[in-house]
Amino acid sequence: MTNNKRNEIIAILAKQEQQFISGQMLSEQLQISRTAIWKHMNELKKDGYQFESVPKKGYRLLAKPNQLNESSIKWGLDTNWLGQTIIFKEQIGSTQDLAHELARKGEKHGTVIIANRQLAGRGRMEKRWLSDDNGGIWLSMVLRPTIPPHQASQMTLFVAVTLVDTLERLTDQTIQIKWPNDLFINGKKLAGILTEMQAELEAIQYLIIGFGINVNQNINNFSEDIRHKSTSLKIVSSQEWNRTELIQFILQDFEGAYQNYLRTGFEPIKQKWLKHAYKFNDSIFIKTGQEAFYATIKGITDDGALMVCDEQKQDRVIYSAEIYW
Ligand code: BTN
Repeated sequence: MTNNKRNEIIAILAKQEQQFISGQMLSEQLQISRTAIWKHMNELKKDGYQFESVPKKGYRLLAKPNQLNESSIKWGLDTNWLGQTIIFKEQIGSTQDLAHELARKGEKHGTVIIANRQLAGRGRMEKRWLSDDNGGIWLSMVLRPTIPPHQASQMTLFVAVTLVDTLERLTDQTIQIKWPNDLFINGKKLAGILTEMQAELEAIQYLIIGFGINVNQNINNFSEDIRHKSTSLKIVSSQEWNRTELIQFILQDFEGAYQNYLRTGFEPIKQKWLKHAYKFNDSIFIKTGQEAFYATIKGITDDGALMVCDEQKQDRVIYSAEIYW
């Protein structure tokens, strides 16, 4: 109950964006005494919220703490369906696993699961995803798109393009996409996306789209084996980033872009993807189960496969392979 009141106070102040709200007004809206409001404000200050309080004018919110929690992400989140339910965990095995569990039980389209730390974060091809520190954004969403199952792989590329758009706008960095789903800055990995699907022949039951973005890690936060190939927003920009705000922008942009994708289809996404493609027209080394060869990246297909041209000038389509960049 007490926490609810605190959440409500923040919600009211955050909505008014920098304007003063009197203690009297808060006490009327929340139906608690002014002394109780004052006590809550002191508790909130201890949690890292910063207020200005001016006699006769009231309180004004100056800054939220740079700590993730469900309420701080929801306050000020301007979406219609994405993140209307946010499940936040201080620590979890994998947000992806919880998302599956909930989706199996019927969780609705748009629910978002976020954790401060993951102890068993997963990447593609059963690789582990190091996320046991609280420097990143570890997030999974439950989606129930009305597209046929064979188009699901477009969603990974769609997420990559959307994240690039948002992160480039907010950070002024140049971000590239390494097929199929890694975001790179200066040749180092900033983020990864994992799309998992539960489907029948004709219809997708649900998609779980998870992404991990390295935000405030220092180089020493990465384990030695990945240090030389990983980066974070902090490393490239020499500043700390507010993860709550980043998540809010990402979810807002994602919701808008998702509606556009359903309306206009994959073509605009493909074009954007190609503009950001890492090593486009460059030579890479490809290893499939059967063979290994050099080739040049030429594009992507509508189902998200990589189009390459090999040294014999043969066009080939790669669905799954180890690629050495
Ligand atoms: C990859 O690079 O292979 C994909 C990495 C995806 C990591 C995210 S973090 C949130 C979600 N939970 C997980 O366990 N994995 C995804």
